[in-house]
Amino acid sequence: MTGTTFPPDFLWGGATAANQIEGAYAEGGKGLSVQDVLPHGLTGPRTPSPTPDNLKLEAIDFYHRYAQDIALFAELGFTVFRFSIAWSRIFPAGDEAEPNEEGLAFYDRVLDELEKHGIEPLVTISHYETPLHLAEAYDGWTNRRLIGFYERYARVLFERYGSRVRYWLTFNEINSLVHAPFMSGAINTPADRLTDQQLYQAMHHELVASASATRIARELMPDARIGCMVLAMPTYPLTPAPADVLAVMKADHANLVFGDVQVRGAYPGYFLRTLRERGIELDITDDDRATLAHTVDFVSFSYYMSACESASPDRAPGAGNIMGGLPNPTLEQSQWGWQIDPVGLRIVLNQFWDRWGKPLFVVENGLGARDELVVVDGVPTVLDDDRIAYLNDHLVQVREAIADGVDVLGYTSWGCIDLVSASTAQLSKRYGFIYVDRDDDGSGTLQRHRKKSFGWYAEVIRTNGASL
Ligand code: BG6
Repeated sequence: MTGTTFPPDFLWGGATAANQIEGAYAEGGKGLSVQDVLPHGLTGPRTPSPTPDNLKLEAIDFYHRYAQDIALFAELGFTVFRFSIAWSRIFPAGDEAEPNEEGLAFYDRVLDELEKHGIEPLVTISHYETPLHLAEAYDGWTNRRLIGFYERYARVLFERYGSRVRYWLTFNEINSLVHAPFMSGAINTPADRLTDQQLYQAMHHELVASASATRIARELMPDARIGCMVLAMPTYPLTPAPADVLAVMKADHANLVFGDVQVRGAYPGYFLRTLRERGIELDITDDDRATLAHTVDFVSFSYYMSACESASPDRAPGAGNIMGGLPNPTLEQSQWGWQIDPVGLRIVLNQFWDRWGKPLFVVENGLGARDELVVVDGVPTVLDDDRIAYLNDHLVQVREAIADGVDVLGYTSWGCIDLVSASTAQLSKRYGFIYVDRDDDGSGTLQRHRKKSFGWYAEVIRTNGASL
């Protein structure tokens, strides 16, 4: 198919998170976050305090190099850049009464740079980087007091940046809480001792905090657009057996309940049944119910892969991503075992549109792969044809979904500049159009180099998708 079906105001860009790019973990008055004690991501134990093997402490040094990096994004033609604000830069411990001015000033400078290049900011308020103190002193989101700390933090951000930031996301991949309680929910209680009661209460607190931030945003920034952000994983039945289809329905329910509440403002019946059957009685106040009614303007999501489900009792272990699920025998996998399924993106865009009827924003998608730096015509680069093919195939499916009638606001590919992986804490799992010279052992100059995909994506943006 030739020609473009992307709307003229479609937002094109890239996405990052503070803890994966900024570094400077102890500069500018920043407090520790849960990431500062997770040197192995989800693949190893946390440490009592930061250790030198934790690549996130320096990450790719965006804290000092943001101007140069944003200039490269401008060269790519970005019209939007997604980044998160490190909560512990603004409230170092999380429970202070007053924010840290130095932290606020840093994001002023980032916004100045974006403005200079005409790039729209898309800000994630909380991206897996809750202040560590809130984990240690309060057991994270299991504690109702987190709602108040988050509200104070969100209010400070809205007051400070509200005139400059239109698009906000309340929590990154809020539905990962169940699978990564410490990273996602700052829950200190070890996962094997955590009860369902605590976990679902934490979920409830996050959902109330998210809706409350939406309410505050409406008061302070009438023109802002507030989105939720969920991890999307379309799930297919392993066989046509109705029991497998039912297993898919249940997996979908577990994954989509967060979005259902954020879009519809109340808990769905299937979730109330789960609570009943597990003997869970949530502490939900009348105020909570009223707060939940403040629903989002749009739904954003990450999409990397799909999975299969089966009702079989001897179902094999998971497909290699944080949400579980089974491998799909018809699909190829990335070097990290993530199944590559471009059509799944069209499916999920349609499913979400049919389910929620809200504008959608693809705020993460990409291929984590090992890159080899080579020199072409005297210039260091990476010939990342696999990444180009992955992104091209996925964007073609976004175009198909738009042709299906789905309202898609934009697309920000994940890790537009190489960054530290969330699940494995490696730098060798690269997603970027821009190569960063730093290795898993921490060595490297931190120099930036344009990969082959840099030119490819610049052309996609320049032609508003016609070059796909
Ligand atoms: C999402 C997260 O889960 O996927 C990002 O929002 C993360 O923080 C991205 O980096 C890719 O996952 P990974 O584990 O390859 O970094």
